[in-house]
Amino acid sequence: MSSMLTLLSILWYQLAFKPKPVPPETNIEGQTAIVTGSNTGLGLAAAKQLASHGLARLILAVRDISKGEEAKAAISRENPKCQVEVWQLDQDSWDSMSAFAGKAQSLDRLDILLLNAGMKRLEYTRSASGHETHIQVNHLGTALLSLLLLAPLRKTAALTGNPSRMTITASSLAFIASVDSVTGPEDQVIPFLDEPASFKPGTDRYCLSKLLNVLWARELAKHVNAKEVVVNMVNPGWCMSEFHREDPGAVSAGKYLGWSSEQGGYELVDAALRHPDSHGQYLSEQKIRSVPGSVLSAQGQVAQKRLWDETLALLRAVVGPDQLPNHLALAD
Ligand SMILES: NC(=O)c1ccc[n+]([C@@H]2O[C@H](COP(=O)([O-])OP(=O)(O)OC[C@H]3O[C@@H](n4cnc5c(N)ncnc54)[C@H](OP(=O)(O)O)[C@@H]3O)[C@@H](O)[C@H]2O)c1
Repeated sequence: MSSMLTLLSILWYQLAFKPKPVPPETNIEGQTAIVTGSNTGLGLAAAKQLASHGLARLILAVRDISKGEEAKAAISRENPKCQVEVWQLDQDSWDSMSAFAGKAQSLDRLDILLLNAGMKRLEYTRSASGHETHIQVNHLGTALLSLLLLAPLRKTAALTGNPSRMTITASSLAFIASVDSVTGPEDQVIPFLDEPASFKPGTDRYCLSKLLNVLWARELAKHVNAKEVVVNMVNPGWCMSEFHREDPGAVSAGKYLGWSSEQGGYELVDAALRHPDSHGQYLSEQKIRSVPGSVLSAQGQVAQKRLWDETLALLRAVVGPDQLPNHLALAD
């Protein structure tokens, strides 16, 4: 799909579609969920909505514990029966992510994982890890957590006899980026994107980081048995959270087109609780949608596999091969 078609489709659904909450009878009693980036915005909205459907234990994965405590107070006021915990997680830090995932291994169950944390900047910044910040936080951080948290999700599926759920928050802006950006020389995609010279000021890098989320989630799904964990990705729509704080153009247009964070939360929760047949699929407007032909093309497949191989090698080097699941062969 060309950029213009993607933009027109966004305009269309923002005006014509209104996200709805999951049916009130949706019952997740006894279940445990982790929501990343849940102190504010769509993550907070989704966390509140999950708690309102009988969730037993909710882990708010947040950068700043004090902001997490405020979110916890707001959720607990409305849902006193849900046990809400605030755990520190900074996707800018390998140590923080490893510590978070280490703690999660001791959960007695993990039914729902919503990998939602993300950021957008219009200028180049470098993370402490040395990677460009969108690459670090939106792609590498999400990818690492998706691997490190597979074990508790799989363990829970064995316990309950039902697949656990992993939803990655993507964006339809992913399809403005080109898969060509991911088909550079082998093992050189991420080093290239880390270079300031590869960064065009504006939203291009954010869009590309969301394409990386889509490619990663699609490839991950091939390596995970849907009977154990249903892995899907969701476009929450254009929502007036704090997300666009550095992008005045998006804030202005959003006044006319934007949905609320609550409506964005409806999209996330719909993807995380419904659509049992959505393994490896992209959801938008609360339906499974086809990804553009460019992603499905031979070149898209090359990009997807190259990103997977390169990311996996990088993550193995950073956290150590023993930390990552060895069951990453293609699933049946
Ligand atoms: N809003 C939209 O229009 C829109 C559209 C499409 C997709 N999305 C996606 O939706 C997701 C949530 O966005 P939002 O609208 O809720 O934005 P938001 O209000 O800015 O919330 C983003 C969340 O991510 C957290 N976060 C940022 N950097 C992090 C890091 N290094 N480590 C851990 N957490 C970090 C933030 O924590 P702090 O509060 O500490 O910064 C915050 O909790 C993102 O993945 C975004 O790409 C949003």
